[in-house]
Amino acid sequence: MSTIPQEFQITELVHQDTYLANGKLIPWHGDTTQVYSTISSTDTYQPTLLGSIPALGEKEALQALDAAVNAYSNGQGLWPTMRVVDRIACMEKFVEQMKTKRDQVVKLLMWEIGKSLPDSQKEFDRTVDYINDTIEDYKQMDRDSAQFKKHDGVNAHIRRGPLGVVLCLGPYNYPLNETFALLIPALIMGNTVVFKPAKHGVLLISPLLEAFCNSFPAGAVNVIYGRGRIVASPIMKTGKVDVLALIGNSKSANALQNQHPKSNRLRLVLGLEAKNPAIILKDADLDLAIAECIAGATSFNGQRCTALKVIYVHEAIVEEFNKRFAAQVDALKFGNPWDDGVKLTPLPEPDKPAYIQELIDDALHKGARIINKKGGDTSENFIFPAVLYPVSKDSRVFQEEQFGPVIPVLSFKDIEEPLDDMAASNYGQQVSLFGRDITTLAPLIDTLVNLVCRVNLNSSCQRGPDVYPFTGRKDSAVATLSVHDALRSFSIRTFIASKDNASNNAILTELLRSRSSNFVSTDYIL
Ligand code: G3H
Repeated sequence: MSTIPQEFQITELVHQDTYLANGKLIPWHGDTTQVYSTISSTDTYQPTLLGSIPALGEKEALQALDAAVNAYSNGQGLWPTMRVVDRIACMEKFVEQMKTKRDQVVKLLMWEIGKSLPDSQKEFDRTVDYINDTIEDYKQMDRDSAQFKKHDGVNAHIRRGPLGVVLCLGPYNYPLNETFALLIPALIMGNTVVFKPAKHGVLLISPLLEAFCNSFPAGAVNVIYGRGRIVASPIMKTGKVDVLALIGNSKSANALQNQHPKSNRLRLVLGLEAKNPAIILKDADLDLAIAECIAGATSFNGQRCTALKVIYVHEAIVEEFNKRFAAQVDALKFGNPWDDGVKLTPLPEPDKPAYIQELIDDALHKGARIINKKGGDTSENFIFPAVLYPVSKDSRVFQEEQFGPVIPVLSFKDIEEPLDDMAASNYGQQVSLFGRDITTLAPLIDTLVNLVCRVNLNSSCQRGPDVYPFTGRKDSAVATLSVHDALRSFSIRTFIASKDNASNNAILTELLRSRSSNFVSTDYIL
């Protein structure tokens, strides 16, 4: 076991004994759930207790929902009718307070989900940047709509308005960033939100609750804890949720959306599973392809929706690729998140190593070999990434989204093979394409852009920069996220229209001059 630097030792437990509803942190005296890290604090391995969260029931879930419904108040609430400039001021207040909690959040990110120190810091900083960029983009959107249009004798003042009440559920791999990439745009557009943190990566929200509480009007943001089945299902069954915003898997998304009694009313903003392939053509720069595939397949132990989860290598170079790739995987350092230069870290889900082992056994049974020396080495909280080759297409590791450290490799002779697999796959997020000859690349790019939503040329797949669209086809996503697109995904165009005549125009002029409407405004937010 590595030594834990003093500043990262768990000296105090985080007992989250309140939940946030209607602008108040409400004390909870009922059942609680203990939160453990799979990282050991002692020489003999044992999970570390980090604290506890409320195991809320249906009653509290519906109380939080009611708070959001009342704060929205059919679009008449304080938050949805507020001037854009005032909503932005609330968000600025929040982000300023959030910045002061960096160390606490980063420490909890490391313990709760095993993310390395640099990556945890990056997750925090990236989220702060995301909020600031969202504010700037919203200002631009507001400036663009600070005008009237006139067509066919009708004046129109068109803006984007909120959709209503949002149920927001985030994933464990980016419990701060991905969740906030939903919550922040939803909120700033004037929606009210009920937010349930992920199962792993839940305590790290605690340092931010006060800031939520004192930055936004009562009920605009509500934070609940507990099992999805117990708290999220009753919320959906009421039919009072207007938007389901979820990053996770399609099984949970389908189960939740099916509970809504009027599915036509429910908007979906979903980031779901993916199985992004790397395709390495025979003229690829092998050093570059290997480096990118290492990062793509192993960053955060492969627990990213954008991770490279299957690698196709042209048969002419597969032997060389495998030799060098396997050696470089074995050279990755495993350790605790705070260890210097660590690339692989403990898995937060206690049953993950056993699941990955099942995938390995199945693949071996169907003809693959583990081609790296350390592949499959297991400890209490980790399993070293096995590079499996040649993986048959009926093996589970080829078909399932492994979301963890195991790397299936296949060779191909004809480019139609990976293309056919992608067309037949349930996923459609991104692809990495490695090659140089443009006569080969051009038609491939033209096909791939229609199978997925981002073709990464000579680089691994990734979400960022966050200003670029992040979406997917088939089971991989519904709606598009990016700083710019998320504001649109969480809003709808709504406008005031009036016939172009003297009496209407006098009213509009007076509305603008008096500044008495929050909606009708041509003010510029600079
Ligand atoms: O889990 C999926 C994330 O959106 C991936 O984001 O590519 O920045 O790691 P990333």
